[in-house]
Amino acid sequence: MDKIVILTGAGLSAESGLGTFRDEGGLWAQHRIEDVATPEGYARDPALVHRFYTARRIQASEARPNAAHDALARLQRAFGGEVVLITQNVDGLHEKAGSEAIHMHGTLAGALCAACGHRWTAPLDMTPDTACPACHGTTARPDVVWFGEMPYFMEEIADHLADCTLFAAIGTSGQVYPAAGFVQEARQAGAQTIELNLEPTDLSRLFHSRRIGPATRVVPEWVASLLG
Ligand code: APR
Repeated sequence: MDKIVILTGAGLSAESGLGTFRDEGGLWAQHRIEDVATPEGYARDPALVHRFYTARRIQASEARPNAAHDALARLQRAFGGEVVLITQNVDGLHEKAGSEAIHMHGTLAGALCAACGHRWTAPLDMTPDTACPACHGTTARPDVVWFGEMPYFMEEIADHLADCTLFAAIGTSGQVYPAAGFVQEARQAGAQTIELNLEPTDLSRLFHSRRIGPATRVVPEWVASLLG
């Protein structure tokens, strides 16, 4: 039985109007990672971190899935074998398209209490005064994995990579580990590997094949080739 494991990154949501991180003018050109995407930055200035994520949460809540998200949802529904979707994205667009996804970097829609660990649905406008419904502390943070923190579901992901027959990386620059290492884990499992991206990446040489172009064109074409 064929098993496809797909890893998606910010490039998948670019054509839904959501900025990527490392492209020209991307999020990391506008904000310092250490200020808005680390536990230290949150401890130093929680109001700045909340402003950064509230702006992204509001933008993501208004964004619509694009043809690439829709094609992946179609693949999950129609493919004869298993399709596992792992995403680095926190924007919720896979779910809006009808997909189930493993969110290894968390979600903008989630809130986490930095004090007691309670999780709940984030208010659209989360601020340092947002209280945890469980312990009532004003220690709410976005349930998003920051640099220096361990991504979620890593054991489950390792199991999927160990028995997949095809691995695809879509719209990710391959600059951030552990996600950037998934192609090697898949190859060690004997899987075929393919990269779909607007342009070649530093990891392109590790993939057996590539489809170069905007996700809204190359992902539907790739899915059509799989569904026959
Ligand atoms: N279609 C396909 N690919 C695209 C498109 C598009 N329309 N637009 C951009 N891309 C590609 C770029 O070529 C690049 O390879 O998407 C990738 C975006 O790379 P990054 O901005 O680095 O985003 P990503 O790979 O998802 O970052 C991984 O790093 O900052 C952390 O936690 C953050 O989850 C993020 C992780």
